Amino acid sequence: MRSTRPARAARRRRYLLCPPVHFAVEYAINPWMDPTRPADPGTALRQWNELRTALRGLGHRVELLAPLPGLPDMVFTANGATVVDGRVLVARFRHRERAAEAQAHRRWFLASGYRPVHTAGPVNEGEGDLLLAGPRILAAAGFRTSRAAHREARRILGRPVVTLTLVDPRFYHLDTALAVLDDERIMYYPPAFATASRRLLRALYPDAILASAADAAVFGLNAVSDGRHVVLPAAARGLAARLHAEGYVPVPVRMPELLKGGGGPKCCVLELRPA
Ligand code: ARG
Repeated sequence: MRSTRPARAARRRRYLLCPPVHFAVEYAINPWMDPTRPADPGTALRQWNELRTALRGLGHRVELLAPLPGLPDMVFTANGATVVDGRVLVARFRHRERAAEAQAHRRWFLASGYRPVHTAGPVNEGEGDLLLAGPRILAAAGFRTSRAAHREARRILGRPVVTLTLVDPRFYHLDTALAVLDDERIMYYPPAFATASRRLLRALYPDAILASAADAAVFGLNAVSDGRHVVLPAAARGLAARLHAEGYVPVPVRMPELLKGGGGPKCCVLELRPA
């Protein structure tokens, strides 16, 4: 297929990742997790390594958060914080099983020299539900992050926040239903959102790429974009073709082991945006 648009520009990024050495599915806090179906940390680590290699290969800087035993979901660093202009809003997890991850993130940001580092008061699952999209933050409520956290994010991060409501439990975090491609464009799966939110997204992003049910179901929207390259699950073939036609470069990765925890490539990546 031929690209019909001019080449898009990549911006070098800095990402925080955490190797899934303690990865497991020991509890179920989203519909993808089934503790009776074994998950293998060795396989998860191999697949995660491919993600890290892909991100480095694209020229991005990858920083590592040390994995802690007893925190099997810690590989999903996207949930630990939201970082805008060097300002850090550390998460407050909805489920007690993940609560201690927030402290690990807080310690990492303080040790790495970020200031201010503010820990959320209301439930806030970081970039899982708060996505910086150019001038604004797109924020979801419905399953995890609370609406009060959206107001706090506007105050702490200093950007207008657009509240969206998620309605399908399979897409319990915003980054499972919507991906920011660059400052102007997004891709998303409309049925994951309440009617009023769909209307809002249509008005804000009339030229968004819309995902099919099949691509959304394989977590195709759980993608990491640098403005040109879009790292996404290999199974999302329709989305990859659409991205290519729009001038983006799809970078497929295979992470089925981490999908057993309800996560994909974007869940494993927290963008660090220094001041
Ligand atoms: N098992 C984790 C949870 O349910 C998966 C988190 C996925 N992360 C994400 N950014 N969507 O909390």
